Order: sequence, then C-alpha cells, then structure tokens
Amino acid sequence: MSNQAYVRAHTNIALIKYWGKRDEIDFLPMNSSLSMTLDKLYTDTMVVFDDSFAQDSFYLNGEKQGEKETKKISKFLDLFREEKKTAMRARVESINHVPTAAGLASSASAFAALAGAANLALGLDLDPQRLSTFARRGSGSATRSIYGGFVEWDMGTCSDDSFAVPVDDASWDIGMVIVAVNQKAKEVSSRIGMKRTVETSPFYPAWVESAKKDIQDIKAAIAAKDFIRLGEITEANGMKMHGTMLGAEPPFSYWEPDSIVAIKTAQTLRKQGIPCYVTMDAGPNVKVLCRLSQAETIKQALLEHFTEDKLIITKPGKGIRELTAAERAV
Ligand code: ADP
Ligand code: DP6
Ligand code: CO
Repeated sequence: MSNQAYVRAHTNIALIKYWGKRDEIDFLPMNSSLSMTLDKLYTDTMVVFDDSFAQDSFYLNGEKQGEKETKKISKFLDLFREEKKTAMRARVESINHVPTAAGLASSASAFAALAGAANLALGLDLDPQRLSTFARRGSGSATRSIYGGFVEWDMGTCSDDSFAVPVDDASWDIGMVIVAVNQKAKEVSSRIGMKRTVETSPFYPAWVESAKKDIQDIKAAIAAKDFIRLGEITEANGMKMHGTMLGAEPPFSYWEPDSIVAIKTAQTLRKQGIPCYVTMDAGPNVKVLCRLSQAETIKQALLEHFTEDKLIITKPGKGIRELTAAERAV
C-alpha cells in the first residue's frame, strides 16, 4: 500500500446557512443547512503517511505552514489515525484554487479534500456519508463538500448522524456569479464570528427557528425545480444570518461598501426581469445565484461597477474525487 493519495474537493456556498454550533468539540450545528457545490473553486490536496516521519508537516500553496496551522491539521488527521489504529505521521501539500479565508469557503474544500485524501491514503474505505462526518470535524461547511450539486447537512442528533445528504445534482439551468469584492483574509474567522453570535446576539434563537422552516421550503423548491422560489428563500436566509451579527456584542459585519453595490445591481437586474438572488458567507464577497444561461448578462451588468478579474461565473460542481496522475500538481 502506498499510503499516499491526491484528492480534489470543490467549495460550496450555503443557500441555507450554518451559523452556530451546539457542540464545538464535535462540530454539531444548531440547524441543518443546504448548499450548492461550485465547479470553479476547489482545493487539491496530497497526503502521505510514513513511518519515518517524526512529525506532521503542512504546505499550503507551496509554503510551509507554522505551528498553529499545522496543529489544526494534526488534530484532524488524528481522527483518521484513530480509525486506522496507526501512529504514522503525515506530510500534507495543498493548493487552494480559491482565496484562503476570504469568505469563499476555502475551509469547506480544504477539509473535504484532506478527508478524502486521508481516507484513501490509509485505505480506510469510509463511505461518503461517514466521510462527511469526518470532514465536518475539520470545518462544518466541509461536511457538504463531499457531494456535488445541492447538498443538505442534516444536523443529526449526535456525531455519527450529523452528515451530508445529496439532494439534487443541480444539472438544471443554475449558476452563480461570484463578486470577489475583497479576497484578503477576513478579520473575524467564521469560527469566532458564529461563536460570538450564538453567545451574545438576542436575534440568534429567532434565526435558528426560521432556518428550520427555510430548509423545508427550499427542499420543496428544489424538488419542484422552482428557481424563483429557490432564489427568494436563499436571499432571505442569508440576510437573516447577517442580521444576527449586528445584534452581537460587540456587533460586527462582514459587509463592505462594494458588497452593497453588488446587491443593488442584482436588485436592479431583477426589476428588469432577470431573476437573480444574492447570498453572502462570512466575508464581503457577494454570490449571485442565477440561471446559468443568464450568467453572462448578469456579469455584463456587474462590469459597470467591478473589474473583470473580480467576477467569476461558475456552474454547480461535483463531489470529491481522486486526481489523475496528470492533474497532480502538488
Ligand atoms: P473561509 O471563508 O475561506 O472558509 P474560514 O475562516 O472558515 O474562511 O477558514 C479559513 C481557514 O481554513 C484557514 O485559516 C485555514 O486554517 C483553513 N484552510 C484553508 N485552506 C486550507 C487548505 N487548503 N488546507 C488546510 N486548511 C485550510
Ligand atoms: C457563513 O464551516 O467556515 O459560510 O465550522 O468553524 O470551520 P467552522 O466554520 P465554517 O462556517 C461557515 C459559515 C458560513 C455558512 C455556511 O457555509 O453554511
Ligand atoms: Co469556512
């Protein structure tokens, strides 16, 4: 056995958000969430386990990472080592084809890719559902990146049944225009931001209640392939999540002036008869959910305010997969 594997995982954007943990050790969420996996943004990760390694090492985009980042990886790999009953240390090399920590869900593709690679490298043969429970303990949003299309993360009752469920392959006329307002790393990580919100925002219980209804409604919209309803629920859910942060102590927001510019552009397009809806994660970047066939038109409208390099059109992406020899850049 080679003990080495290369895996690609795509990021996903939540249409019904995960924003808050009921258990921080096991990464159990307060509510179920639902996302769309994205074709254009992904992470490629290589992991190799070897008896001769004295410690784990971690390279991101070609740069050796410091103690803090490496510790995070070690803790995550421990889950796989426990399962395999091995003490072998590992070397991890990862390339993000997505800005790191900028609110474009790098942690989702990162931990789904690492989970997939560790599973293969150690020959664990975990099925996708079980693998998603491992990915979850690296980053909650990574739970959903195991699968492609529309994916639900069922909040479950315990660590074993809080996993991802594929809902629909999204192979209808669906796309997204990403407005990368600011690709710099954010000041408040998702982890810290959601913790502060759960602990201090009086709006938080209302958010959880309404997210429970939203997820039922969006699943009905997906089953009916009702794009307008899908978009309306997505936009409303995202706005509610950002509202909870304004109620936190101290209050915070990921929005920047250009976020509003992008939101207003989408609203104007809608008035002109082009259905498109916005959502934002823990960052200033705006994602415009649209019909893939109209993505180019939407991009043209956004080009009045943003430069070409800030606009990314993507279709729905697929689940994790092993990289072919030719694709192995890392
Ligand atoms: P994002 O919006 O990008 O998901 P988060 O704050 O949720 O931002 O997560 C960013 C963190 O995820 C990084 O600080 C790093 O710890 C981790 N991360 C990002 N990319 C990778 C990668 N390729 N491999 C391992 N960990 C990664
Ligand atoms: C706003 O999964 O990045 O993007 O579980 O602490 O690693 P941790 O947080 P993370 O949070 C994602 C928050 C979100 C919404 C979502 O993706 O559902
Ligand atoms: Co994240």
